[in-house]
Amino acid sequence: MHLTAFDPPAEQTDELLARVGALVTELLAGADRAAVTGHPRGQDLVDELLVSRPGEPVAVDQALDTLRAVLATGDRNAAGGELGYIPGSGLLTAGLAELIAAVANRYTGLPGFAPAAVALEQSVLRWMTERFGLPERAQAVLTSGGSMANLTAVVAARERLAPGAPQLATLYVGEHAHASVRKAARIAGLRGEHVRVCATADGLRLDPEAVRVAIKQDLADGLRPIAVVGAAGTTNAGAVDPLSALAEVAGQTGVWFHVDAAYGGFFQLTERGRHRLAGIEQADSITLDPHKSLFLPFGTGALVVRERDDLARAFDEDADYLRDTTEDLDALPDFSAISPELTRAWRGLRLWLPLALHGVDAFRAALDRALDLAELAGRALADDPHLEVVGGPDLSIVTFRGPGDDAAQDALLRAVNADGRVRLSSTRIDGRVTLRLAVLSHRTTAEHVAVALERITRAASDGSRR
Ligand SMILES: Cc1ncc(COP(=O)(O)O)c(C=O)c1O
Repeated sequence: MHLTAFDPPAEQTDELLARVGALVTELLAGADRAAVTGHPRGQDLVDELLVSRPGEPVAVDQALDTLRAVLATGDRNAAGGELGYIPGSGLLTAGLAELIAAVANRYTGLPGFAPAAVALEQSVLRWMTERFGLPERAQAVLTSGGSMANLTAVVAARERLAPGAPQLATLYVGEHAHASVRKAARIAGLRGEHVRVCATADGLRLDPEAVRVAIKQDLADGLRPIAVVGAAGTTNAGAVDPLSALAEVAGQTGVWFHVDAAYGGFFQLTERGRHRLAGIEQADSITLDPHKSLFLPFGTGALVVRERDDLARAFDEDADYLRDTTEDLDALPDFSAISPELTRAWRGLRLWLPLALHGVDAFRAALDRALDLAELAGRALADDPHLEVVGGPDLSIVTFRGPGDDAAQDALLRAVNADGRVRLSSTRIDGRVTLRLAVLSHRTTAEHVAVALERITRAASDGSRR
C-alpha cells in the first residue's frame, strides 16, 4: 500500500489505521514482561539511519518495517522491570488521544478558536489545582515536562520579586534539587552563584533553618530572594523536603515557594501521598510531571500556580496580528498569555482521555500499588544484614548500599542488572555511590520487585564474601 494523498480516502485511512494498530498491538504485547536492557543496540541501523534522507515515497509496510526494526533495538524503559532513574511507562489511551489531537489539530493557544477544546483541557487543569487545595484563582498550564515547568515557575517568581533585576535575584535549593532548577535559574538570567545550595538537615532533606539564614543574609546584602524550591520527591533519593516548614520560611520572608513535585506530585491522589506531601497546598507553584506519576507518554509536564496573575505578569504580550482573535472569554484560560508558548499542542486531550476512560481510581490504585511495592522493598532491604538502607521510601524510591566501596556498589549494580530483566540505577549521596530502586511504572508488579530483591540479596551476599 502506497500513500500518495495527504488526506487519503476513507477506506485507505481505515487500512492505514489497521496497520498502525497492528504495530501498536505488537508493542503492547508483553510490554510489561519485556527485558529492560540487553536488546541489540542496533549500531548498523544507527549508521544507516544517520545517512538516510527523506525523498521518494516508500510503501506503508516498508516504513512500518523500518519502525519495527528501530523498536527492536535499545532499552525498553517502559517495561515493568524498569526500576532505575524515574520510570516512565506510557498509556495506550494517551497515545490514542495524541492521534486524535494531532489529526484534529485544533488551535488552543488562544481561547476563542476552539472554546470547548480549551474547556476540556481546563477541566483537567482545574482537577489538578483542586487536588492540591488551591484557590479558584489558581491556574495550571501543561508543558513538555518538569524542566519547562520549573523554568516557567522561576520566571514567574522573578517577575514578581525581581522584575528587571535578574542579576540581584537569588534562589534557594537543596543539594538534591533537580539539575533543571539550576538550569532554569541560568536561563532566567540569575547568576550561578545566586543559586544558594542550602544545607540538608539529615543528608537528604532541605533544612528550612538553613534557608531562613541564607535569605536573611541576602536581604541584608541588598539582594532579592525570589524563590525557595522544595522537592516533593528528590530524584536522587525520593526524599520529600519538609514542605510545611519551608512554606513558613517562604511566607515569613516574602519569598515565592515552589515545590518541584515532578516525580512525586500525583501521589497526592493517594491517602498516604497526601499525608507525606502535607504542606504542598501552601505552595505558590508546583511542578508536576504526568509523564512520570500519571504514567503518560513523555512530553507531558505541568505547572500549577496559586495566582493566575503571576503567570500573566510573566508571560502576557500584545501582538497587532492577533487583534481580531482577542475575544475575551473570562471562564477560559488564554494559554498564550500565561505561558511561554503561543501555538501549542492540544496537550489536555492526552490527560483527559486516559482519565475519562480509566477513571481517577485506576490511577490512585496504581500509585497505591507503587507505594506498597516500595515499602515492601524497603523492608526487605533493611532486613538484609549485608545491606544498608540510605533513605526511603518517603514515596516510592529506596536507596541503599551493599558491602564495600564505590567500586563494589558499581559491581553490585552490574550483577543485579546483568540479564536486563530488571534495571536499577545509581547515584551519589553524601559523596558515596548509592543504588536506587524506584517503583513508578504502572507495569511494575510484585514479581518484578521480587526478582530485583532476590538479585540484590544474592549479589550483596556474594559481595560480602569477597
Ligand atoms: C524532581 C524532578 N524535577 C524535574 C525533573 C525534570 O523533568 P523532565 O525530565 O520532565 O524535564 C525531574 C526528572 O526526572 C525530576 O525528577
